[in-house]
Parts: sequence; structure tokens; C-alpha cells
Amino acid sequence: MASVRIENLVKSYPGEKGRPGKTAVDHVNIEIRHREFMVLVGPSGCGKSTTLRMIAGLEDITSGAIYIEDRKVNEVAPKDRDIAMVFQNYALYPHMSVRENLAFGLKLRGLAKDEIARRVDEAARILGLLEPDNLLERKPKALSGGQRQRVALGRAMVRQPKAFLFDEPLSNLDAKMRVEMRAEITRLHRRLQSTMIYVTHDQVEAMTMADRMVVMHQGRVQQIATPMEIYRNPANRFVAGFIGSPPMNFLEGSLVGAGDRLAFREKIPAGSLGPVQLSLTAESSRHLTSHRDREIVLGIRPEHIAEATPRETVTFSAAVDLVEPMGAETYLHVRTGGHSLVIRSTDEKSAQAQAGSKRSFRADPDRARFFDPTNGQALSIP
Ligand SMILES: Nc1ncnc2c1ncn2[C@@H]1O[C@H](COP(=O)(O)OP(=O)(O)OP(=O)(O)O)[C@@H](O)[C@H]1O
Ligand SMILES: [Mg+2]
Repeated sequence: MASVRIENLVKSYPGEKGRPGKTAVDHVNIEIRHREFMVLVGPSGCGKSTTLRMIAGLEDITSGAIYIEDRKVNEVAPKDRDIAMVFQNYALYPHMSVRENLAFGLKLRGLAKDEIARRVDEAARILGLLEPDNLLERKPKALSGGQRQRVALGRAMVRQPKAFLFDEPLSNLDAKMRVEMRAEITRLHRRLQSTMIYVTHDQVEAMTMADRMVVMHQGRVQQIATPMEIYRNPANRFVAGFIGSPPMNFLEGSLVGAGDRLAFREKIPAGSLGPVQLSLTAESSRHLTSHRDREIVLGIRPEHIAEATPRETVTFSAAVDLVEPMGAETYLHVRTGGHSLVIRSTDEKSAQAQAGSKRSFRADPDRARFFDPTNGQALSIP
């Protein structure tokens, strides 16, 4: 199994008929460790598939370099890179049985018959293609979507590649099957201990499966870290808004001074509900002193705002706009003087909140994040 290193990778498509060209992948640097499950995540069109296809050798590189186990593979043909790719559309051969589909690539490579049989049986066993029903002699059309996806996984497994590449392998499955296969791929990774690079636009898939993830936007890497690091300390506003559902709330305002303690004050139009105010922790105050009396954006996740008890002083008022009970939790959409916020409440009473009523809330200053209003970069909090 292998580490994969991507250095200054660029992919540009020339423009047609005099139109400007398109840079799909823009100076991307990623180092994927031996045995790591790395997820590339980002919105549609951000360059995930293009990056993956360049690693596989299916797409020419405009500039930059790709190394697999310290061997530069820019000029190496896809079949000689020793990596296996699993796509969204399983691309099984319809006229072949599951067994033949699994064996086909190995036959082409001229492996011995008993070695092929051994690998096919092992993959079939691990992927549950033998029990409860033995699927090996069936044709793909007689399989469910999840079973087909398992066969596609098996076809990659039997090759015993240095690394697995996945491009949205679950997006053709229904929601329940997707959750099951997600867990199955995670277990498979643990069992095979192989390097896996997994592309998805689904941030839940990314959060739950990744050892580390790469968040991409407009062809550029925004942040590379573990899911929880990214969730807690997003590098910029884009990442903060993309990872997490419902997304982080953003409030425009400014930092005002009160001794050596700073406070955030929401920007509001004249005559509206009083501004949201939040006293910063001593630590944040110290880090952000140079931003005193300047505009700033406060980011706060829905679960870090809660309904306040009547006696609490550090609160703000907001009008309830919409109540979405989810069972275990309730999403309250509320309006402050200047912004709409979503609050994720685990208090069962929240489900009874009346639209139009005014209620008191408090935000957790430890969890507040701050962003530069012009470039969206996170302002450092240790
Ligand atoms: N052959 C091409 N010519 C011009 N532009 C292209 C070509 N192929 C892809 N692109 C553009 O490159 C960008 C990145 O595409 P890519 O397929 O890598 O996105 P993605 O992140 O995988 O998105 P999705 O989640 O929708 O699959 C897109 O804006 C796409 O339109
Ligand atoms: Mg894609």
C-alpha cells in the first residue's frame, strides 16, 4: 500500500471559439499517507473528479507532479500505476456473471487460474456476495443497486492495488442503502488497511468516513485536516458554511472594547430589535485586540446557541420564524435585529415554540469563531 503525493497540480481546459479557458484544478498540493482514508469534498464543479482522474492517469496533467510511493507517475500509463478506481456508475459487464466480472481484469493480466479463483472467492466472502444468497453466477441486471456496487468494489479489490480511488460510488443508491454502504466501505478500509482516496460532494459522507479530508472550492484546496478539526476550526467562511448541517450562522458586526475584554456587537438597521451582543473569552479578546472597533463576522454553529433561562443576563432576543421538529432535536429559525439564524435545540420544549413569538437565547462564547469580513479568512483562535 502506498502514499500518494500531489504537487502543484494544475488542470486547465482551453476555451472554445475564443472564450476564456477554465482552470478546473488550481495548484493543488495534497499528501495522502500510507493506509489513510482521504476524502476530497466540495460543491459540484470544484475539481474533485478531475483531481482523482489525474491521479488515476485518465486525464492529462497541465502542470505539476503526482507521486505514488515516491515514484513520479506523470508519464506512467493508467494500467501501470497499480491503483484501482470505483465509479458512481458501476460499469459492470452486463453479459457476464458476477464471478466473470470479478475475474475479467485478472484474466487480462494473465494471472494463473487458481490465483484468480482464490482472489475472487476472498473478495466475494468479504463483500457478502456468498451469503445469504450466492450471487456469483447471477448477471448484474439481477442485482440490487447496493449489490452491484459491492461487485464494483470487488473488482477493485481483486486487483490488490496500491491504492483505491472512489468517485461518488454511493450516489446512485437510495438514502438507506447509502448509509449502509458507507459503513461497509469504512469497515472494508479497516480490514484491507489500504490507502483510499474518496471523492464526494456530501459533507456527511466526508465527515463520517474520512481520516482526513480535503475541502475544495473553485479548483483550490481550502483546508486539509481531520473532520473534527475542520468542524471546530474552519479555515475560512467557505469551509465553515460548507461543512455542517444546518450550516454555521454568520453575523456581521464589529468588535467593541470594554477594558481588556472585547465584545461582538451585531450590525442592525435603525429601529430593529436590539443587537446580538456576545462577550468574548479572555483568550479570544487577547487574540483579536487588533480588530477592536473594526468590522468582523461572527460564526456560530446552530448547536452552540440555546434558549436562555429567564434569569440569565448574557442573552439576546429573537423572533421565532419557523419551527422544524426533527424528533431528537428541533431546528428553530429565528430573526434577530439584523440576521436570520438557525438554532439546533435538544430541549423538547423548543418543538412547541410558536412562530412569531419572541424568545431569549444565549450563544456560547467559547465556540464563537471570527472571520475577516473582506476575505473570509478565519481570524486565529487557538
Ligand atoms: N472537458 C472539459 N472541458 C472544459 N471544462 C471541463 C471539462 N471537464 C470538466 N470541466 C470543468 O472543470 C470543473 C471541475 O470539474 P469536475 O468534474 O472535476 O468537478 P467535480 O468537483 O467532480 O464536480 P461534481 O461534484 O459535479 O462531480 C467544472 O467546472 C467542469 O465544468
Ligand atoms: Mg465529480
